[in-house]
Amino acid sequence: MKINELVVLICLFVMGKCGTVPSYIHVCYRDDPQLSKCITNSIIALLPRLRVGIPELNVPPLEPLALPGASLDRTSGSTHFKVNLSNTLVTGASEFTILELKPKVAQNYFRFKVNHPKIYYNGDHNIDSKILFLELKGNGKYHLNITNFAYECILKGDVIAENGTKHLKFQKMEIKIGFESATILLENLFNGDPVLGKAANDAINDNIGLFFEELRPNFEQVLNSVNALVPRLKVGIPELNVPSLDPLILQGTSLDTSSGSTHLKVKLANIQVTGASDFTILEITPKVSKNYFRFKVNHPNIYVEGDYEIDSKILILELKGKGRFHLNITDFAYDSILKGEVVTENGVKHLKFEKMKMKIGFGSGNILLENLFNGDPVLGKGANDAINDNIGTFFEELRPNFEDVLSTRFTDTANKITETFEYEDLFPKSS
Ligand SMILES: *[C@@H]1O[C@H](CO)[C@@H](O)[C@H](O)[C@H]1NC(C)=O
Ligand SMILES: *[C@@H]1O[C@H](CO)[C@@H](O)[C@H](O)[C@H]1NC(C)=O
Ligand SMILES: *[C@@H]1O[C@H](CO)[C@@H](O)[C@H](O)[C@H]1NC(C)=O
Ligand SMILES: *[C@@H]1O[C@H](CO)[C@@H](O)[C@H](O)[C@H]1NC(C)=O
Repeated sequence: MKINELVVLICLFVMGKCGTVPSYIHVCYRDDPQLSKCITNSIIALLPRLRVGIPELNVPPLEPLALPGASLDRTSGSTHFKVNLSNTLVTGASEFTILELKPKVAQNYFRFKVNHPKIYYNGDHNIDSKILFLELKGNGKYHLNITNFAYECILKGDVIAENGTKHLKFQKMEIKIGFESATILLENLFNGDPVLGKAANDAINDNIGLFFEELRPNFEQVLNSVNALVPRLKVGIPELNVPSLDPLILQGTSLDTSSGSTHLKVKLANIQVTGASDFTILEITPKVSKNYFRFKVNHPNIYVEGDYEIDSKILILELKGKGRFHLNITDFAYDSILKGEVVTENGVKHLKFEKMKMKIGFGSGNILLENLFNGDPVLGKGANDAINDNIGTFFEELRPNFEDVLSTRFTDTANKITETFEYEDLFPKSS
């Protein structure tokens, strides 16, 4: 199952050097303020490689993914469940969405949720079971289709020293799996008797949830086999070469609009944002073949400060002044779409992104404009209170500017990264 590779790769990215890191692995540094993003980007960049496998890291091809055989032999009450599955090939493992990724590298703690829209299992079964009054006997091919196969994993580790080298050793991974719907076909039940075979398959499919609960520990055990692979990874102490994104320095913006009795003229400059490194990726949907990336991010707390200049009239409220501004935002969230195309420059192919499409929102906000009305304390406090009482309205006025400043900045960053790589290196062909 996909998870093994994902975990190994996450660990590789985060822990850094494992001997010489192959060029196609983009190492993320433990103190990278944009760690979740870096890991997710690395996984996306690696997807085409995962499809065909990375033999030198013992990462098998994802498409199709060969699973180790599984056998189950369990009796409880009138139920006796004995089944062997072998030669299983899984397809669909490379199509997935990372719904949430929460690394806490300092504590060696990783939590992530993954969803595969469609997963197909095909292999051989050998079954000899009795479940209540339903008997199942036979051997042949089996086919299992699952929609929205999802899992949530928590991986915790300790750094241990062995022979003077530090290793990261993971405790048993906690996994919870689930799915939306599934259908199975067991061929050749009862020596191929068509009537009995169809009846048994129908009975299983009518109770697929119960079967899944029977097999759940088995699934989870297969997923857990990752523990055998992971301890080989070494803890690196790599140098940082990622520019600081916390604090994040943004270019200025200015707004000058009139409508009815409202005139809004605002200039913001030297904008510095802190808190950008603390975030949760709520969803990321890459479509690498179309150079399309969509992600939703939430920052619990963002603090913005800078210089402002304002000369506005909003209904009866006049605002005039020049000084520092401070803004606290909780649950600052954005939903972004980044689309690119492959361009050829000097005979080399690069991925170039169009300006990102972005929608932002927030939970609550609180602003302080210093030195309004030349520092008049009464007028200044009155105006700040009025703004904060209507912060949502102000935000709506300024939203297009914020979205423009942020998306320009993010698009530039993304293009800086893709400019330095040849397209084929970043997204190699899978064959
Ligand atoms: C499953 O395999 C085990 C050994 O691999 C074997 O002992 C057992 O009989 C098999 N079960 C079935 C139902 O074929
Ligand atoms: C540590 O050294 C001992 C003795 O040389 C050796 O048996 C053991 O395998 C080594 N452990 C690791 C993890 O390399
Ligand atoms: C699984 O899906 C494929 C493709 O849609 C279909 O041909 C096949 O019959 C399905 N098998 C089962 C067991 O539902
Ligand atoms: C922002 O939060 C900080 C820390 O909680 C606080 O000291 C400051 O007064 C807040 N500023 C505004 C404008 O709410």
